Amino acid sequence: MIIKPDATDRNLIGEILRRVEKSGFTIRALQMLRLTPERARVFYAVHEGKPFLDSLCRFMSSGPIVPMILEKDNAVADLRALIGATDPKKAACGTLRYDLALDVEKNSVHASDSGENAAKEIGFFFK
Ligand code: RTP
Ligand code: MG
Repeated sequence: MIIKPDATDRNLIGEILRRVEKSGFTIRALQMLRLTPERARVFYAVHEGKPFLDSLCRFMSSGPIVPMILEKDNAVADLRALIGATDPKKAACGTLRYDLALDVEKNSVHASDSGENAAKEIGFFFK
């Protein structure tokens, strides 16, 4: 999972970690850093060609982010259920994005969408 710049900017790191831990996840590693736009583009290579990619890379490099390694049974599906749909207007009531996100881009968190991508994303941020 990554806490995105819109959330670090609004002092929501603690609130997000509280929700994650309360939902049964164990935080195994955590750091704070700022990406360059170029490095954001490497992270989001899967979205190459999509119309929102340039704006997304600008946003993701606009301030500090907090990538972390989370552990739980069924972690990928459970985390995506906790955060809700990409667009907070479409996210279910009570999800993290419904409560905290600003819009479809500034949606406060990133969560890996498969075990395979989680392994790649962990390798991107952690030794
Ligand atoms: P994430 O990867 O961050 O967990 O989000 P996701 O799976 O729900 O969404 P995805 O389709 O993977 O898109 C990645 C991120 O790109 C931004 N986005 N902007 N302007 C738009 O229509 C649009 N669509 C996506 C969001 O920040 C999204 O989380
Ligand atoms: Mg995604």
